Amino acid sequence: MSNNKTFTMIKPDAVANGHIGAILDQIIKAGFKINAMKYIALTEQTAGKFYEVHKERPFYGELVGFMSSGPIVAAILEKDNAVEDFRKLIGATDPAKAEAGTIRQLFAESIGANAIHGSDSSENAKIEGDFFFSALEKF
Ligand code: TYD
Repeated sequence: MSNNKTFTMIKPDAVANGHIGAILDQIIKAGFKINAMKYIALTEQTAGKFYEVHKERPFYGELVGFMSSGPIVAAILEKDNAVEDFRKLIGATDPAKAEAGTIRQLFAESIGANAIHGSDSSENAKIEGDFFFSALEKF
């Protein structure tokens, strides 16, 4: 499968803290192009479905509650080696362990409220992008 696309969400903490502009700026300066984008609020049901793979994890309920606590920005991004390069740009899940200059180190509050999502494989990037965007909304 080609690896030129990934899926991201700027999470409710980063939106509420006013970081949308700074995060998008960092993403674009790192060479990603925006293929699709929307500003939306997830219901608990939608957040629960998106994170269904984590259903058995102890943090699932908190994660679903957090992701439906305020608006998010969802986007499909395009670049060569998109999945891996984007995971490097956002940093480790726990911002305390994220490298200096990464989006999570700069903008995240905690392991739960960690500012941004990035797909972990090209297969998941496709599934996640299709979850949010119809064919009409993608380039
Ligand atoms: P995960 O897929 O492990 O991390 P990543 O987002 O870096 O791919 O987990 C998904 C999300 O679940 C993570 O971004 C934040 C939340 N989470 C917690 O709230 N507590 C935890 O202990 C972990 C591992 C994740």
